[in-house]
Amino acid sequence: MNTKPQYQIALFGLGVVGQGFFNLLQASQSRDVSIQYIVVKSKTKKRAVPQSLLVYDAAQVWEDERVNLVVEATNDAQAAYEIIKNALLRRIPVVSASKKAIAQKLEDLVRLSRQTNTPFLYEAAVAASIPVLQTLDRYFAYEKPVAAGGILNGTTNYILSRIEQDGLSFNEALLLAQQAGFAEADPSSDVDGWDAAYKLTLLNLHAFGVLNDPAAVLRFSIRNLSRADRELALLEGKSIRLVARSIQTRKGLASWVLPTLVPAGEGLGTIVQENNALQFDFPFNGPWFTAGKGAGSLPTGSAVLKDVQRLVTENYSYRYTHLPVLSLSPLANDVSLELLLAGDDADFPADFRLAGWRRFTDPSGRIVRRGWLVLPELQKWLGRLEEAGVSLLFTGAFQLHESRREALTGFGKPQKVISKPV
Ligand SMILES: NC(=O)c1ccc[n+]([C@@H]2O[C@H](COP(=O)([O-])OP(=O)(O)OC[C@H]3O[C@@H](n4cnc5c(N)ncnc54)[C@H](OP(=O)(O)O)[C@@H]3O)[C@@H](O)[C@H]2O)c1
Repeated sequence: MNTKPQYQIALFGLGVVGQGFFNLLQASQSRDVSIQYIVVKSKTKKRAVPQSLLVYDAAQVWEDERVNLVVEATNDAQAAYEIIKNALLRRIPVVSASKKAIAQKLEDLVRLSRQTNTPFLYEAAVAASIPVLQTLDRYFAYEKPVAAGGILNGTTNYILSRIEQDGLSFNEALLLAQQAGFAEADPSSDVDGWDAAYKLTLLNLHAFGVLNDPAAVLRFSIRNLSRADRELALLEGKSIRLVARSIQTRKGLASWVLPTLVPAGEGLGTIVQENNALQFDFPFNGPWFTAGKGAGSLPTGSAVLKDVQRLVTENYSYRYTHLPVLSLSPLANDVSLELLLAGDDADFPADFRLAGWRRFTDPSGRIVRRGWLVLPELQKWLGRLEEAGVSLLFTGAFQLHESRREALTGFGKPQKVISKPV
């Protein structure tokens, strides 16, 4: 009887994810899969793996024809892209966790996977332990949602739930997140919404069949949020979460990542600490809500292992049933959002206008403006408002525009409100 494992893996990266995957694979005692190489950078770090598996030069892997599965878990987006590309060009199936690399090079990598007829799976890249891509790909292959998104970044959720539960300032909560290992020394990818935008880009492809540039997703940082925002949210019976959301509009798909008011103690408002949650609205199926661990060694390692198992048992490839043409599409902007903006008058540009707005003084004595802004206007002012220290909260209410004129000016008569602040 031939007992040689069918799959010989080259694992790139042995950090949080790589080590988690390695430990789980060992524990699984799989007879189909064995690790041939572990490629890392540092020769001096202590490792909890057999020394004989470690290599420091990827060339050694590419020269070995026995390697027939690549697991990519590095923290360098350019290196990750090169590794995935190299593997696919050699028709070696790839499992990756690297959302930044995948989202930024999505068109390229999906095309290469199709051209070479080689599976490329990346469940771990979206919400770690929550099996969202495979569910969309299999179960919802013939039903597109009208809206999708949720809490896709564990670091910011940890920070926001510490602000809410313990009354901490943003900086105090960030420090705790860094001490707990949830936030990096440079937290900008998480707190400025980039990480969630990469994940939303992957969701957009699998849920809606839209391939967008992650830089086109509208983002506002959580850096300017303070205790005063927590008090303001509490007054409305709400919690604050960084919510990534895509909705189908008359012109296409609109996507944003914004600090958002959600009902306290319900739905996304129940998601605390580093957990993630996803919310979909399907036309026939109705709503689908799912939550789980969005980061960490074992949850993410487990998602990688499940992709490996699907490759081994089914030679599974994503079907991308909603993707008509493999090319980048612009995101739509025919939507207005209702916002709460807190800052001094001097923080706002002279020609900044909210539609249907009013001002009030919040419980902390700040002047708050509440009103509507169409997406292109919001996009225009985001950087300036962020820099001025203005805090921005999306109330959750949005309006779809009937006409192009209304979409461009944002001052048309309010159209049908399809989402109340929830
Ligand atoms: N951490 C999570 O919970 C999580 C969740 C979902 C997705 N992800 C994604 O998964 C990937 C890995 O994250 P991580 O948290 O495991 O990162 P990490 O703990 O910082 O580890 C990164 C690993 O990559 C190795 N590496 C860097 N450049 C390399 C190269 N050119 N060739 C080979 N190895 C290289 C490093 O080598 P050395 O050990 O020698 O430094 C290290 O072992 C990232 O893209 C991340 O965004 C992470």
